[in-house]
Amino acid sequence: MDYKISKTEFGQKPHFDLPTPLFYQELGEDGLVKLFNDFYDLLVDSDISNFFPQDEEELAKVKSHNVKFFIEACGGPKYYTQAVGHFDMIKAHEPFSITEKARTEWLGCMQQVLANVDISQDAKKSFWNYLETFSKHTVNVDTGLKLPEDIVKV
Ligand code: HEM
Repeated sequence: MDYKISKTEFGQKPHFDLPTPLFYQELGEDGLVKLFNDFYDLLVDSDISNFFPQDEEELAKVKSHNVKFFIEACGGPKYYTQAVGHFDMIKAHEPFSITEKARTEWLGCMQQVLANVDISQDAKKSFWNYLETFSKHTVNVDTGLKLPEDIVKV
């Protein structure tokens, strides 16, 4: 599968579609919990590990909120709403200086764990498209950074 990452136009909050219900049906709740455990194992070792709590208990809390959110977003029980309440994507990420590079690193960790999951390509693609677009809402630092496809060699 092609895990395409398109560039964020700084300041734009593009419309996105939620993942197809197929994704949750095929992966199941346990599969999603495992996916996010594996994802966090990569994140804490990544170039953006500094954004995440170093304290194990605090990290476990963030991870648990995250998985609750994604279960709900994928059409499962409303665990996040019940446990935390309303989620504001921009506010939640405001305390962190998230550049396009950081977003790409985050997506790169997700790509690695998603590649190991045995579900249909349609389900995977739909989840990836959701993440790829919605993650643009977290970018709150404009570095003017160009992705490789924009760099014209002279
Ligand atoms: C579609 C993409 C994303 C979604 C839906 C998402 C959603 C969330 C949610 C639900 C939480 C937990 C909030 C809570 O505690 O209630 C969270 C936390 C966090 N997210 Fe994201 N996120 C996304 C992408 C990113 C990206 C690209 C980055 C950085 C590069 C990032 C960095 C963080 C950090 C650092 C936290 C931890 C906050 C803390 O320590 O409390 N997220 N995110």
